[in-house]
Amino acid sequence: MNIASIGSGHIGGTLSKLWAASGHRVMFGSRDPHGERMRSLLREAGANAAAGTVREAAAFGEVLLLAVPPSELERIFADAGDLTGKIVINCTNRYDGKSADGEVRRLAGDARVVRAFHTLPWEVIAEPEYDAINASLFVSGDDAEAKAIVSGLAADIGLDPVDVGGSAEMAKVEEAIIALWGVFSPLYGRNYGLRVLRR
Ligand SMILES: NC(=O)c1ccc[n+]([C@@H]2O[C@H](COP(=O)([O-])OP(=O)(O)OC[C@H]3O[C@@H](n4cnc5c(N)ncnc54)[C@H](OP(=O)(O)O)[C@@H]3O)[C@@H](O)[C@H]2O)c1
Repeated sequence: MNIASIGSGHIGGTLSKLWAASGHRVMFGSRDPHGERMRSLLREAGANAAAGTVREAAAFGEVLLLAVPPSELERIFADAGDLTGKIVINCTNRYDGKSADGEVRRLAGDARVVRAFHTLPWEVIAEPEYDAINASLFVSGDDAEAKAIVSGLAADIGLDPVDVGGSAEMAKVEEAIIALWGVFSPLYGRNYGLRVLRR
């Protein structure tokens, strides 16, 4: 698929390098698409990756990954232009009690929003396999086809996608994950994964 990565930091850089390596085409949407940091990232990402402005990347992508600070969302949607029909993956998290999910769904207009890649640290996304068991990735959204496509993108890079339903269910999952983080991160640091076993 053609994937636009708006954001080329920890999450955008990690996911896009993996997607490019698995055969997808990626364009980073950046404020500085020709700078040294981007040139270095493109060297690491290989021939399937390119960089452009946010508008250029948004036009290129069938799928847009939003991997930016939540404070920038309004500006980025304005820069991106019309996203009707495109799949927008929202992995942004706010830590002030407000919902990044509701805000993105409001700003995204007629785009097809899927919430995913926000419940794992980038270190686990980069290396999701633990003794041959892959970490689960929770996915939600109202558009079943868009959710299936994003789940496929997660599986392509070795994650175990788990469809939790819609926004209300994801809000409960997020609450549980924050509670577990308080227990496990002092014990194991950031680099632990969760797996949902099911039959
Ligand atoms: N880090 C994690 O493990 C993790 C896990 C789950 C969810 N998240 C969420 O994912 C999002 C990204 O986190 P991150 O750790 O990847 O952040 P990061 O490393 O700081 O990267 C943020 C990226 O956003 C870009 N950016 C900022 N403002 C922009 C604008 N107006 N237009 C275009 N690009 C812009 C930055 O570009 P410049 O390089 O030009 O500044 C940078 O590439 C956050 O919402 C975070 O809550 C992070």
